[in-house]
Amino acid sequence: MLKEKVVQLLEAQVSIEPDKIMGLLETPPNRELGDVAFPCFILAKQLKKAPAVIAQELANELHDPLFTKVEANGPYLNFFVDRNQYAIQIMEDARAGKLLHSIGEGKPMIVEYSSPNIAKPFTLAHIRSTMIGQALKNIYGTMGYEAIGINHLGDWGTQFGKLISAYLRWGEEEKVVANPIPELLRLYVKFHEEVELHPELNLEDEGRAWFHRLEQGDEEAHRLWQWFVSESLKEFNRMYEKLNVHIDHFWGESYYQNQMDRVFNELKEKDLLVESKGALVVEVSEEIPPCIVLKNDGSTIYATRDIAAAIYRYEKFHPEQILYVVDARQSLHFQQVFGVIEKMGYEWAKQCKHIAFGLMKIEGESMSTRKGKAVLLEDVLDEAISKVKNIIDEKNPDLPNKEQVAEWVGVGAIVFNDLKNYYAHNVNFQWDEALNFDGETGPYVQYTYARMQSVLRKATVEWKEAPLQAHPAFQTPVAWDLLFHLTKYQEAMERAAEKYDPSQVARFVLDLCALFNRYYNQERLLVDDPAEQIAKLQLVDAAARVLKHGLEVLTLRTPEQI
Ligand code: ARG
Repeated sequence: MLKEKVVQLLEAQVSIEPDKIMGLLETPPNRELGDVAFPCFILAKQLKKAPAVIAQELANELHDPLFTKVEANGPYLNFFVDRNQYAIQIMEDARAGKLLHSIGEGKPMIVEYSSPNIAKPFTLAHIRSTMIGQALKNIYGTMGYEAIGINHLGDWGTQFGKLISAYLRWGEEEKVVANPIPELLRLYVKFHEEVELHPELNLEDEGRAWFHRLEQGDEEAHRLWQWFVSESLKEFNRMYEKLNVHIDHFWGESYYQNQMDRVFNELKEKDLLVESKGALVVEVSEEIPPCIVLKNDGSTIYATRDIAAAIYRYEKFHPEQILYVVDARQSLHFQQVFGVIEKMGYEWAKQCKHIAFGLMKIEGESMSTRKGKAVLLEDVLDEAISKVKNIIDEKNPDLPNKEQVAEWVGVGAIVFNDLKNYYAHNVNFQWDEALNFDGETGPYVQYTYARMQSVLRKATVEWKEAPLQAHPAFQTPVAWDLLFHLTKYQEAMERAAEKYDPSQVARFVLDLCALFNRYYNQERLLVDDPAEQIAKLQLVDAAARVLKHGLEVLTLRTPEQI
């Protein structure tokens, strides 16, 4: 905000691009040197003068009511903001939601995320994908892109033929309805056990035959498949609701079935198909193995469907980028897929990006192996919720709406623990750490928001309708640091968008909470003097609005009381 103003002023005086000026601006190491500094070295050549002379000349020219003075200090031009005015402007902007300005110009940005597999449990990799992806979608939406979320469900492939065969042999309808994912998983596991035990049954062939029938549009196969999909989606949707996740399009792998012919025709026309051991492959580069697109039994695979999906998405939306928020273990797969697309001559292959995130473990264990059986995401969420419920029962037994708050904070603990880490890093979820109300956690940031609201509820003055006015209360070092931090929201959000990194927003939120808590601890807010109390509460309100927005971008809910 401040920097934008400085750019505006300088732009009128010097012939440098505004973006370039912006990039050169510095924040002086201490306040005696002003609030923003412009180093004049870059102008020396152009103007054939010493930087210090240029700084002095510019200092004489530049005047603006937002700055009390503009001063040359050697080659630097230092701007001193009028803190009274600036404080009011920051709070006005916070109220009007104008601390952020759009950079996306409405351009489409595709974020593919979550993408669990039908009839399989939601793994920890899927929860990371879901939360990082939703946060990214929120970040791009906030920054003025047309953010489009796609759920690339794993709903196609030979495994569905096997599942149909297993269900018809050993399944019971009521059991699947009562407990869809564990029951379907049990059948799928049993199928593989029986393959080993009874080779004479040729179960693998039976499974393949069912998938073939499914691909041919066979009615029974299709009905069962559809049923597995809808039972699984019921569970996924229940989780999305709890997680505050909203995905625009559920376009699973099956969605691209009718585009396979086009892909093959194109690959053939472009002379890219090579036969290899009965399969068809595309050679991408020397460094990586070729990408199989048609198996020797004539069926398409995961990669083939990804190629079709990418083409479909690009042609439909012409997005700036297509982000694939998927586990780092699939890196080779995406290199192959993007490689094939590039070979097909699509320039936009460069705009496809794999957001390869690290592993997540709970107490050092990965979800699928814990106690030798799959742990369901919902069980982990429920455990978090019940632990938070216990804490509330102990600390604040009379809290209204306890169940709801426990759910929001329990889920928040898991989600924030994930998002505060740079996505490419591995995360280890430790219950004690993630639930600590004093650590850098979800409960801590949500509690800080509730603390702000509690101060506002205890007001003894009418601060809401009172006009924003300059007051010395904004100028104490702790108040000013808090207020000034709000102006950095834009930068944090831009960095997050540029680096595909929600942890930038989490970092901003954590710093905001730390600054607020310092303010809260060092200053008495509910003072007797009405004008002073009004000023202080207006500041709390501005901070609370920004915090709420930041938490919502990270998908966290914001209870008013905890
Ligand atoms: N369903 C896959 C899995 O669970 C993830 C899909 C990732 N997205 C993609 N376009 N391949 O491993």
